[in-house]
Amino acid sequence: MDVRDSASVKDAVAYIVKKEGHLDILVNNAGVGIGGTVEDTSTEMAKALFDTNFFGICRVLQEVLPVMRRQPEGLIINMSSIGGIIGLPCQGIYSASKFAVEGLSEALYKELSLSAIKVVLIEPGDFKTEFTANRQNVKAKHNADNFQRTMDVIENDEQNGQPPFKIAYLIERIINTPRPRLRYAVGAPDQKLSIVLKKILPNRWFDRIIMSYYQLK
Ligand SMILES: NC(=O)c1ccc[n+]([C@@H]2O[C@H](COP(=O)([O-])OP(=O)(O)OC[C@H]3O[C@@H](n4cnc5c(N)ncnc54)[C@H](OP(=O)(O)O)[C@@H]3O)[C@@H](O)[C@H]2O)c1
Repeated sequence: MDVRDSASVKDAVAYIVKKEGHLDILVNNAGVGIGGTVEDTSTEMAKALFDTNFFGICRVLQEVLPVMRRQPEGLIINMSSIGGIIGLPCQGIYSASKFAVEGLSEALYKELSLSAIKVVLIEPGDFKTEFTANRQNVKAKHNADNFQRTMDVIENDEQNGQPPFKIAYLIERIINTPRPRLRYAVGAPDQKLSIVLKKILPNRWFDRIIMSYYQLK
């Protein structure tokens, strides 16, 4: 399906239900990225990204939830990112879309608590996929050399990232967990540590660490 197209989503869900008679697990995995500063990214590009990363999930949920309600159970896994917890420089629009996925999922988790439909967020660090090659990049108008260094760090981390089968194993574990929790962070130890540090350090200290890491200091 194309998650940007309501008719395509409707058809795909109807096809599965007709063929299988039920729909047990939904993984909202579709996602795209933009590499570029907030200042340099056009509103049209930002809207297009949200159309996939956020509204795509909304469209699929609208079709799948009535099916799961009838069953009356199911599991929904929304693919977030470490960028949904930490606002990442040169990925501001992408981070914003994943923050939106986090907020949506937190609310949905509560709304479905009276039902047998479970909601889970996966928050990956860097994984080696086609994400880097598929990302749209926007050249910075100011401090271009600085931001290029930031993009180099981002791309290097992704291309040396963990293998995506680890996410597949995590999804299998979640499926086999009777009462999964809302959030599962997955990735390299330093990336998981950064999520903990964001919770415990004063904002200014934490942001200095992130800026230094991304060569912005
Ligand atoms: N790689 C990482 O380091 C990383 C880190 C954190 C989170 N994530 C998240 O993980 C998810 C998967 O990304 P990935 O790393 O596997 O990147 P990827 O290799 O670029 O894969 C993106 C996937 O999204 C699908 N997709 C894109 N637009 C779509 C649309 N409009 N409708 C339906 N499917 C669409 C693509 O399908 P087609 O191939 O058919 O276009 C592809 O299967 C994304 O949500 C991403 O934000 C990735």
